[in-house]
Amino acid sequence: MRIDIVTIFPTFFDVLGVSLLGRAREKGLLDVRVHDLRDWTHDRHRTVDDTPYGGGAGMVMKPEPWGEALDEILGEDAVLVVPTPSGEVFRQPLARELAQEKQLVFACGRYEGIDQRVIDHYAARGRVRLVSIGDYVLNGGEVAAMAMIEAITRLLPGFMGNPESLLEESHEDGLLEYPIYTKPAVWRGLEVPPVLLSGNHAAVAAWRREQSIERTRERRPDLLPD
Ligand code: ADE
Repeated sequence: MRIDIVTIFPTFFDVLGVSLLGRAREKGLLDVRVHDLRDWTHDRHRTVDDTPYGGGAGMVMKPEPWGEALDEILGEDAVLVVPTPSGEVFRQPLARELAQEKQLVFACGRYEGIDQRVIDHYAARGRVRLVSIGDYVLNGGEVAAMAMIEAITRLLPGFMGNPESLLEESHEDGLLEYPIYTKPAVWRGLEVPPVLLSGNHAAVAAWRREQSIERTRERRPDLLPD
C-alpha cells in the first residue's frame, strides 16, 4: 500500500519510522511519503491560508496549493481521505475497507479547514472520504490521520506477526473485547477467573462471549442491537 500525507507539519509524522509501522515500511508492505503543502506555494511567505468569505473567526486553507499538490500526488485509483470533525465517523469497518486500497492520500487541514471547492473538485473526479475520528475537535488533521493510518496498516496482510490476534479484538465482531489475564494466577489477592484455568475450551469461549456482551452493554450500549 502507498500512503501519501500532505500537511504543513511534516515532522509530525516522523514517528511513522518507529515500531511496527517502521518495520512494515522496511518489509516493503508500506510506502509512506510525507509532503509539505508549502512546497506548492509560490509567494515569499509560502502562504497557505486566508480570511473566510462571508466573515467569521479563523482562517481557511487556500485552494491553490492544495490543487497543485493533489494533482501531482493523487494516482489513478487513489482515495483522498480528508480528516475533519464534520466527516463520517472512523470505525473498524472503514479501516478494513481502506486497508484494501492501493493508494490513500491524507489531506491534513489546519485552521478552520480547507476551501470547500478542493473537496468538490476531487469528489467530482475520484473518491473522497471526509472522516472524523470522534466527536471532539483537534487542532488539525494530523493526529487524526496518524490514528487512521495505524488502524488501517495493521490490517495489511503480513503486517501482524500473529494475524489471529486481529480476530479477537474489540470491534472485530461488533462487541468490545473480553477481559484478559496472564500469570500469576493471584496478584494482590485478586484471582484470575477460574474458568480460564479449567482447560475447558468451550467453557472459556462461552465465558468470553458473555463477558464481551456484558462489557458492551455497560460501556457501549450503542453498539448493541435494540
Ligand atoms: N480535525 C479536527 N478534529 C478532527 C476530528 N475529530 N477528526 C478528524 N479530523 C479532525
